[in-house]
Amino acid sequence: MNILVTGGAGYIGSHTVIELINNGHDVIIIDNLSNSCKEAVTRAERIIGEALTFYEKDIRDKQALEKVFSKHQIDGVIHFAGLKAVGESVKMPLKYYNNNLISTISLLEVMESHNVKQLVFSSSATVYGDPASVPIKESATLPAKVTNPYGQTKLVIETMLMDLAITNNNWQITALRYFNPIGAHESGTIGEDPSDIPNNLMPYVSQVAIGKLKELSVFGSDYPTRDGTGVRDYIHVTDLAKAHVAALSTPASLNEYRAINVGTGKGTSVLELISAFEQASGVKVPYKITGRRRPGDIAACYADPSLAHSILGWRAQKTIEDACADSWRWQSANPNGYRG
Ligand code: NAD
Ligand code: UD1
Repeated sequence: MNILVTGGAGYIGSHTVIELINNGHDVIIIDNLSNSCKEAVTRAERIIGEALTFYEKDIRDKQALEKVFSKHQIDGVIHFAGLKAVGESVKMPLKYYNNNLISTISLLEVMESHNVKQLVFSSSATVYGDPASVPIKESATLPAKVTNPYGQTKLVIETMLMDLAITNNNWQITALRYFNPIGAHESGTIGEDPSDIPNNLMPYVSQVAIGKLKELSVFGSDYPTRDGTGVRDYIHVTDLAKAHVAALSTPASLNEYRAINVGTGKGTSVLELISAFEQASGVKVPYKITGRRRPGDIAACYADPSLAHSILGWRAQKTIEDACADSWRWQSANPNGYRG
C-alpha cells in the first residue's frame, strides 16, 4: 500500500516508517520539522537502504496537502503529526488546539475529497484520565475533560473521528491509544531527541546517564504502588511501530471506528525503570526522591492489551531491558541527538 505518514520525521513516525518499508509498503512523509529534523529521515533511509519521499510541509496547509494527494495514489494515512508537550500545552493552550485540531481537520477534509478513507490515528492513554481501575480496557468510560490541553486535543480528535465513522461515508478508522513509548531502533541510529530538557522519564534518565543532566528527581514516593513511585506501561517504540503495520493489514471495516490500546500490559515503577536502565547500561543513574508529586500525575496506568491481540494479532515482543539497552545505545552514540 501507499501510506502517507504525517509527522514521519518524529520519534514514533521515523520508527514506523522503517517497519512499513520492511513490510512492503511505500511511504510518503509529510512533516514541518517543528519538533524533528531532516537527519532522522536521512538515517531512516540508511537503515532501509532506499530513498524516502519526504515533504517539508505543515499539514494545516490544505493546498500543500492537496498537491501531495494529487501527485500520489494514497491508500491510507497514519497521522502522527501533532504537538505533545504536556507542560507547554498548559501554558500555551491555543498553540496546541490550533496545531493539533486544525491539522487533523485539514487532513480529514483532503482525505475525504480524494476518497482516501483508511486512517490510523496516534491517540494516547491520556484520554483515560485517572482510570477507575487498572489494567485499563478500551471500554473504560472516558472523562469529559482530561487535565491538560494536549490530552484534551486527543479526546476531541477521537470524538471527531467517531462522528466521522457514523456518517456511513466508508471511513475505516483506528485510534491507537499508546501507553508510554520508550527505546530506540536497535541500530542506535534513530531515537527520541527532545529539543529541550525532557519531561518524560526515559529521556531524562538517559540524559542523566550520559552526564548532560545532573540527577533525576523522582516525583512522589507515596503513591499506592509497590514501591510508592508511579507505575506506567513502557512500550518499546519498535513494538509500537509494528502495531501500526498490523492496524493497516487488519483494517477497520467500512464505517467502523475502533480504539485499541497499545501497551505491554505490564506496569513498571520509576525505581524499577531506573534499575533496569542501570543494568542495561552499566551506568549509575543518580536520583533523589522528592516528596512532591508532579501536578496531574496519576499513581498507576497500564494497559489491558488483549484487544490488540485479538483484533490485530499484535503483541509486544520486547522487554523493558531491551528498551533500556536500545535507549542507551542511541543516547551514548548520539549524546546531542541528531544535532551531532
Ligand atoms: P514527535 O514530536 O517526535 O513527532 C511528531 C511530528 O509531527 C514531529 O516530527 C513534528 O515536527 C510533526 N508535526 C507537528 N505538527 C505538525 C504539523 N502541523 N504539520 C506537519 N508536521 C507536524 O512526537 P512522537 O513522540 O513521535 O509522537 C507522535 C504522535 O504520537 C503525536 O501525535 C503524539 O501526541 C502521539 N503520542 C506520543 C506519545 C509519546 O509519549 N511519545 C504518547 C502518546 C501519544
Ligand atoms: C506523561 C504525560 C501524559 C503523556 C505521556 C506520554 C504528564 C502529567 N503526563 O505521562 O499526558 O501522554 O507523558 O507522553 O506530563 N517521572 C519522574 N521524574 C521525571 C519524569 C517522570 O519521577 O523527571 C515519573 C512520573 O511522575 C511518572 C513516570 O515517571 O510516574 C512516567 O512519567 P512520564 O514519562 O512523564 O509519563 P506519564 O506520566 O505517563
